Amino acid sequence: MSQIRIAPSLLSADFANLAAEIARCEKGGADWLHVDVMDGRFVPNLTFGAKVIETARRVSTLPLDVHLMVVEPERYFEDFAASGASGLTIHHEVSPHLSRQLARIRELGCRAGVAVNPSTPVEILRDVIPDLDLVLVMSVNPGFGGQRFIPGSIEKVARARRLLDEAGSAAALEVDGGVNRETIAAIRRAGADTFVAGNAVFTARDAAAEIGALRQLAMERA
Ligand code: DX5
Ligand code: ZN
Repeated sequence: MSQIRIAPSLLSADFANLAAEIARCEKGGADWLHVDVMDGRFVPNLTFGAKVIETARRVSTLPLDVHLMVVEPERYFEDFAASGASGLTIHHEVSPHLSRQLARIRELGCRAGVAVNPSTPVEILRDVIPDLDLVLVMSVNPGFGGQRFIPGSIEKVARARRLLDEAGSAAALEVDGGVNRETIAAIRRAGADTFVAGNAVFTARDAAAEIGALRQLAMERA
């Protein structure tokens, strides 16, 4: 089976100590850093933009996996790519010209990702599979960290896995929302390879060890 990537979500980090939080992730063997950009329009919450991406880039060499929960995401592609994003993931629900938008992300040298909300069927991506490098299945309604994993997401990940395999795609299959020690093994079994974890990592007493524990659980049950 494919490699496992653990991507701690900085949304749950202590922003007064961001560099130290990122260092803890690196020490724990994090594969990517997940950066949640929210605009208060697509989701009912506001977070941050290019400045925080730039800051993370300055203190870490890990790939920055930027999740855009914003309307008109194309307005930010250039800035975020220039700030050091490694991947840009946009939401299907606010991207009517998906193949053009994904092509632009690739042109900027970033991994092109598409996220689907819990209410959006993943099959809607069938015709753009050649254009994408990552599918993100949201396992909570986006907007906040620390929500409960929606159990039906397991079956959806399995359908996403089939969709990518049937198309012969090597795209990453990422899951975001409520990933923790209780849920990660089943998500892996369903075929995901990339796991975003916010609360699970940053509320743990030892964030670095938690990343290792999550990876171990994902590997054992594969
Ligand atoms: C939710 C964000 C997530 C969030 C996950 O809208 O996209 O990346 O940080 O947090 P947890 O792991 O706490 O559910
Ligand atoms: Zn996210």
